[in-house]
Amino acid sequence: MFSDPERLSGRRQPQVEIRHAADLVVQLSTSLQRKPDVVDFGTVFTDHMLSVEWNANGGWQTPLIRPFGDLSLHPACSALHYAVELFEGLKVYRGDDKRLRLFRPLLNMERMSKSAKRACLPAFDQSELLGCIKRLIEIDQDWVPHLGSGCLYIRPTFIGTEPSLGVKKPNRALLYVIMCQAGSYFNTELSLWADPKYTRAWKGGTGDCKMGGNYGGTLFAQQEAGSYDCQQVLWLYGEDHQITEGGTMNIFLHWINEDGDEELATPPLDGIILPGVTRQSILDLARKWDEFKVSERYLTMGQLCSALKQQRLKEMFGSGTACRICRIGSIVYEEKVQNSQNSSSWDKSLSSNLLRINFALFQHGRSPSDWTYLV
Ligand SMILES: Cc1ncc(COP(=O)(O)O)c(C=O)c1O
Repeated sequence: MFSDPERLSGRRQPQVEIRHAADLVVQLSTSLQRKPDVVDFGTVFTDHMLSVEWNANGGWQTPLIRPFGDLSLHPACSALHYAVELFEGLKVYRGDDKRLRLFRPLLNMERMSKSAKRACLPAFDQSELLGCIKRLIEIDQDWVPHLGSGCLYIRPTFIGTEPSLGVKKPNRALLYVIMCQAGSYFNTELSLWADPKYTRAWKGGTGDCKMGGNYGGTLFAQQEAGSYDCQQVLWLYGEDHQITEGGTMNIFLHWINEDGDEELATPPLDGIILPGVTRQSILDLARKWDEFKVSERYLTMGQLCSALKQQRLKEMFGSGTACRICRIGSIVYEEKVQNSQNSSSWDKSLSSNLLRINFALFQHGRSPSDWTYLV
């Protein structure tokens, strides 16, 4: 399926043919599931999955679409012991014209390639993987909801399957893709708990990659957030309590900044922020509109608290594929509740405009866009 850039550069001799999406082998399930009406996110999966094995001697093997089922892994497998693992998350939507569309999927493929490099997993051909995912969606297309705003969530996953306990670059790996139905993730305004005692990511770490280890390590803090009646953690960084991310979302402030200018601001991609596809799209759109200042800049809790006191905050929201765009209603910080929502009503807010007018149009195909990729 995937070409391996190291082979192409001649550094290693090819031992097998380079595989393509066209080589894909399909084994259809003989017992299709009944599709449930409403399910919790990530609990019910579609009938098929894609898997492709890789090993250092043979390179990428033939990609296979097969009935959804368990994996068989060696108990010493490096993904299980050392979190040599990464994943992606993207959605496929059914448009008003019944056609299925992905939203900027090449950005997910690119981010996945970067995560793979950082995890010492092998390189793959991004467009070949996208071709295989497209075929998987076609096969399970009836799972994409026909009504409402529901969609299908696609989870590409890449794991080291080295069957030994040595901490080393894996000689074996498995890339697989599973899919599940997804409705709207968070419907209401979110409450966040901000405490600098926990850190999600740090300079020189892997916070800008979508590696499983970044997420398992956050559960403890997430649980503590719950004890303050908050739904998510607002991750802070450094002595000055820089705002970084909220739960698994990028964070935006729409405010009148310290200089009196209307501004949409989000923290810069300095290694501790995940480069979200939704984040990038919001920045691209807002820059195109050219109605207010758009900045990637450091933002601290001190600046946010001053803005709240002086009623300069129009809106604070998080962005991500799962939640799309979600307003932040309150933050517990230094044992006090800060109401982070004030001047704009939801109807007239930037977040509702982004969500309603733009993403719905692009994703549901109500206006032509080069951000959508037809399946
Ligand atoms: C830590 C983190 N930040 C931000 C995001 C949002 O990224 P995207 O917009 O690509 O879904 C995600 C979700 O993938 C995430 O896990």
